Amino acid sequence: MPRSIIAGIGMYVPKNVYTNKDLMQYMDTSDEWIVERTGIRERRFADRKGETTATMGIEAAKVAIERAGITPQDIDFIIFATLSPDYYFPGCGVLVQRALQMKEIGALDVRNQCSGFVYALSVGDQYIRTGTYKNILVIGSEKHSFGLDFSTRGRNVSVIFGDGAAAVVLQPTEDPNRGLLSTHLHSDGNDAEILAMFNPGTHANYWKEGLADFDEAPVGQMFMSHSMVEKAQLFPNMDGQAVFKKAVVKFPEVIMEALRTNNYQPSDLKLLVPHQANLRISQFVQHTLKLRDDQVYNNIQRYGNTTAASVPIALCEAWQEGKIQPGDLVCLAAFGSGFTWASALFKW
Ligand code: COA
Repeated sequence: MPRSIIAGIGMYVPKNVYTNKDLMQYMDTSDEWIVERTGIRERRFADRKGETTATMGIEAAKVAIERAGITPQDIDFIIFATLSPDYYFPGCGVLVQRALQMKEIGALDVRNQCSGFVYALSVGDQYIRTGTYKNILVIGSEKHSFGLDFSTRGRNVSVIFGDGAAAVVLQPTEDPNRGLLSTHLHSDGNDAEILAMFNPGTHANYWKEGLADFDEAPVGQMFMSHSMVEKAQLFPNMDGQAVFKKAVVKFPEVIMEALRTNNYQPSDLKLLVPHQANLRISQFVQHTLKLRDDQVYNNIQRYGNTTAASVPIALCEAWQEGKIQPGDLVCLAAFGSGFTWASALFKW
């Protein structure tokens, strides 16, 4: 059975850099608070008019496709992971298919937030292993800057997130010393509301929270209401400490699951590329697994948390910096809203 290799990888981040100091013009915060709690020093925000989740994903995809030595017409399946799509529907996958003038191939959208890219990779890997597709484009992209509360009320969430995209091309290899060895996916829906954006949605809390008056609102007008805007209910909610506590347990668990499944131990890792949620979480994981500094890649300092884009952006930068060579053991790991968490272990 063939294994998947990353034949090409590319990234795109917007030009606009927003430092922690820049955020102070919108909210009561400080560089010290943000750096100390998260490690983040700056993030990129997409151009308000021209750049979208899809356009950033398309730019990253062009680089990945070129580096794979193929053309957009060679791609036979698209998987697009994001929580900030251009449209509520359809998803971003078809926008990539159209923009790159691809054949009438399948386009799948993945909604798994911070673990979206690793989940997407896992789906693509199944099609490669079964011989269904030969060139799969997997994209992670986010435009968070359009949907965050930049007032002091939303500062615990908005200082963390940034915009950006990255993409890979998966291809099959018969080389026994290379490829994606295994993927491991998990979820625990008991904590679904701890890190969530509730509206617009179809949940029953519209009535309970007074977001819609079911007696007066005409049928069809409850999905979005003035009350949601007035009550600032269109922003993400997060219990940061609860997320932190779960993440520092589940990250090491799912990384160890990947290593044990393939008879490796942490010291065998050339590089761990964790989802860039918070530098303190990555440092905690590093400490738990007794990894050296050079075994863990972090770039949250420059980009913040870019959710579905964070793992592939970090992987792309690590590869561009020459930190990953053919045959190296590389582990990708992610944790996020849902909660969902996942890992993928490669022989690069
Ligand atoms: N600037 C300044 N003060 C802030 C602030 C900000 N951006 N955000 C929150 N605060 C304040 C709070 O209002 C609170 O003030 P109070 O003590 O007067 O009430 C104080 O800082 C402490 O807030 P708390 O939420 O307890 O801080 P924390 O130490 O838990 O750090 C996070 C907050 C969000 C940085 C931290 O919990 C975290 O990183 N969690 C994980 C989040 C994550 O990774 N999310 C993505 C998952 S994929």
